[in-house]
Order: sequence, then C-alpha cells, then structure tokens
Amino acid sequence: SQELIRKLEDTIENIPDFPIPGIQFKDISPVFLDSKLYEEVIADLAAVSKGKVDAVCGIESRGYLFGIAIAVALEIPFILIRKAGKLPPPVISEQYDLEYGSAVIETRQGQIRPGQRILIHDDLLATGGTTEAAAKLVEKQGATVAQFSFLIGLKDLKGEEKLKKFNAEVYHILEY
Ligand code: PRP
Ligand code: MG
Repeated sequence: SQELIRKLEDTIENIPDFPIPGIQFKDISPVFLDSKLYEEVIADLAAVSKGKVDAVCGIESRGYLFGIAIAVALEIPFILIRKAGKLPPPVISEQYDLEYGSAVIETRQGQIRPGQRILIHDDLLATGGTTEAAAKLVEKQGATVAQFSFLIGLKDLKGEEKLKKFNAEVYHILEY
C-alpha cells in the first residue's frame, strides 16, 4: 500500500558512495528496529504470493531476512540458496558474472522438488545477476519460477530485463 511504501521510504537509509564511490547503498537494517513495520512488510509480501507458490527460495544473506518469514506466513517450505562452499554435498551450483569476476551460488540437491512453483525472494533487485542465477538453479531441479519478490527494485540497472525469460511475475514493494 501507499502507506507501507511511505513508511519504508522514511525508514530505509540511503548511504552515498558505499561500498564504493558512485553507489547509493540502501540500508534496510532500520526496518528490523520496528517489529510492527517488519510484520507489515511480511504481510504484504506473503499476500502477493498466497496460493501461487509451493515453496520459497531465499538468497544469502539479506534474502533470508524476509524470505523465511514469508514461507512461515504461507506455511510452505523455505529453501536456502547459499554462496559457494557453505552447504554440505550433494549441492547444485550455478555460476554468474559480477562487475569484476564471478560468483557461485548453491542449494542442497533435492530440496527444490520437480514441478514445484517457486517464489525467489531477495531484498534487492539491482543488475539481476544474482536472481537470474537463482532462477537457473530452480530450473535445473525441474521446478518453475512462478514469482520473484523483492523489497526494493533499482530501475536504472534494468534487472527486470534479465528475469523476463522466466515468464514469472516480478513484484517489489519499493522502486528507486
Ligand atoms: C546484494 C543484494 C542482492 C544482490 C543484488 O547482495 O542483497 O542479493 O546484491 O545484486 P544484483 O541484482 O546486481 O545481482 P550481496 O551480494 O551484496 O550480499 P548480502 O545479501 O550477503 O549482503
Ligand atoms: Mg544479497
């Protein structure tokens, strides 16, 4: 709602030139100081996905802060997508490009089930590289991405274009 958007705009801090010059960092940590606001965020994100997904995949680490609560609210499984080397084998991996170099994310093999409709959740959609890799992991397991949800979308970075090929709904509460 407009009211929730306004509250989040007042709460999320913009930090210029962090972690490097030219980047406007959105610090979501003040949201967790206000448990009522946190509950409203979860209610909003859960309502968008209710009845449309069978499980939630959250992306380490900030994707866990809201993702697991969305899954609990919907009474569906939560699956961790982690940075490489943290989960014990067997794992499914996906490599993706960063501005400099590349990264790998992983999920435990078998936790995402074939045929499931998956919500991929993260706090922020920037270039879309992280989320795109997560979606490929989901498809490698024979499941489909039904939705993507974020607290924040950064429209100038055109992350949504990378997600179009998955034919899934993209939702964010706020856009900058
Ligand atoms: C940030 C953010 C998203 C990702 C978005 O995570 O939380 O996961 O970057 O960027 P992209 O759309 O350009 O891929 P980060 O890798 O900084 O790690 P963190 O969540 O552990 O803080
Ligand atoms: Mg992240």
